[in-house]
Amino acid sequence: MSDQNETTAVSEDEPTTPEEVPNRQSPFSQAFRDFIPTGWAPYPAELPPALAASAWTPARRAALGAKFAGERLVVPAGGLKVRANDTDYPYRPDTAFAYYSGLGGDREPDAVLVLEPVDNGEVIDGVAATHAPTLYFKPRAPRTDPEFYSDARYGEMWVGQRESLDEMAAMVGFACAPISQLDEHLAKNLESTTIRVLRVADDAVTARIDQLRADHGHADQSELDEQFAIAASEQRLVKDTFEIDQLQLACDASAEGFEAVVADLPEAVRRGRGERWVEGVFGLYARHHGNAVGYDTIAAGADHANTLHWVRNDGDLRDGDLLLMDAGVELDSLYTADITRTLPVNGRFSPAQRRVYDVVFEAQQAAMAVAKPGTTFKDVHLAAITVIATRLHEWGLLPVTPEQSLGPDGGQHRRWMVHGTSHHLGLDVHDCAQARAEHYREGRLAEGMVITIEPGLYFKATDLLVPDELRGIGVRIEDDIVITADGCRILSDKLPRAADDVESWMAGLLAQGS
Ligand code: GLY
Ligand code: MN
Ligand code: MN
Repeated sequence: MSDQNETTAVSEDEPTTPEEVPNRQSPFSQAFRDFIPTGWAPYPAELPPALAASAWTPARRAALGAKFAGERLVVPAGGLKVRANDTDYPYRPDTAFAYYSGLGGDREPDAVLVLEPVDNGEVIDGVAATHAPTLYFKPRAPRTDPEFYSDARYGEMWVGQRESLDEMAAMVGFACAPISQLDEHLAKNLESTTIRVLRVADDAVTARIDQLRADHGHADQSELDEQFAIAASEQRLVKDTFEIDQLQLACDASAEGFEAVVADLPEAVRRGRGERWVEGVFGLYARHHGNAVGYDTIAAGADHANTLHWVRNDGDLRDGDLLLMDAGVELDSLYTADITRTLPVNGRFSPAQRRVYDVVFEAQQAAMAVAKPGTTFKDVHLAAITVIATRLHEWGLLPVTPEQSLGPDGGQHRRWMVHGTSHHLGLDVHDCAQARAEHYREGRLAEGMVITIEPGLYFKATDLLVPDELRGIGVRIEDDIVITADGCRILSDKLPRAADDVESWMAGLLAQGS
């Protein structure tokens, strides 16, 4: 497709007078505007390859569509979010948009995927489909358009050469249209068509749809949207093969990050603010192997480990302390690992640290032993906390029996492990967040589900109920598993878990660095 055929309208609001331009820019002269479109090599004639995920998205859309036959489904990517003035946060599309479009990385701000109902059984992309997809996005403007040089969010001179409609269609494997045509599509046949939108991603698109509904006499339909969000979230409870492969790669990349952290621990101790140093080392691997970290890294030395979401990471790491590091690489496909290791900074656990560590490891093993098809999600947790409560009781810390603590009126053990043992993992670190409790906490594990197993024990320095030698020790061990036909496979098993294995692994890495 030539530049001329690309459909983005030439911007009419280009500032031209000194009063209109932002305070630090010079106005563009007519001479510049005449000169700038000339003398550029043509855009590549060859189309880009299809996204790897595009082989999987037709089946995903078909499964979603089957639940909402005859209805228009709207899945926005969401827009850029301002960090300050004209500086945005790094862009990440909404998870459902990534899942159904196959687009990851920083693609594609403000895009909207519309699934338009078709006659039942029509074959689209080789799948008997209920809906035809169209991706509405802002294709690159021709170089005759001021966007080329003056639009810091979309312009080629600012953010690089973006896709044309045909290029994007080749990547995603289905039809694309300019975002300027979205509203017309949304408004089509609304008297007779139910429309559902995933509301969380894009307030502006959601507001326009609510307005269209109101204009067409439909009362508040946010409940329809809620059902849609639940279905989209529950669809991801079981991963397809592509997703499991991506999660394996994310775990492998994260293992490399953890190895680099261990090798650099002496430097982190020497420099001070060692928590920030190891956060940075892991972040380097995350950016190099993937898109980013999948969530803010927790790098918690000593008592900081007892703040569950310690992300300030401004503390020192000291010889003799533990480092609890909870970090995961998010790949360009946006699948993320979520791994925690609790490591002795000097490479050797103290007897007290090892005592706590071994119980957490025992709890993790107990949970993994029952993680298989048919087990309920909450029973995986029960297996872990039964170990935790039993050992706390043996140590004289529980004020009641383990049975009482684990019973409906108990819960005292939660003082030392207040969080759950597992969550679903995928494109989001806390994946499938809108799934109903009957399919999540009360749901049964099934082959292809990916969950974390992450028990912990946290003895705050201020906890007067625990003996002195345990105060300030916090341990979590977190691994990512996929449920198989008869059990589970540990995706994060490139990293050791047992205390002895952790020590010998660390000794090897620290010896390389010395
Ligand atoms: N990193 C957050 C979690 O483990 O759930
Ligand atoms: Mn987790
Ligand atoms: Mn974690």
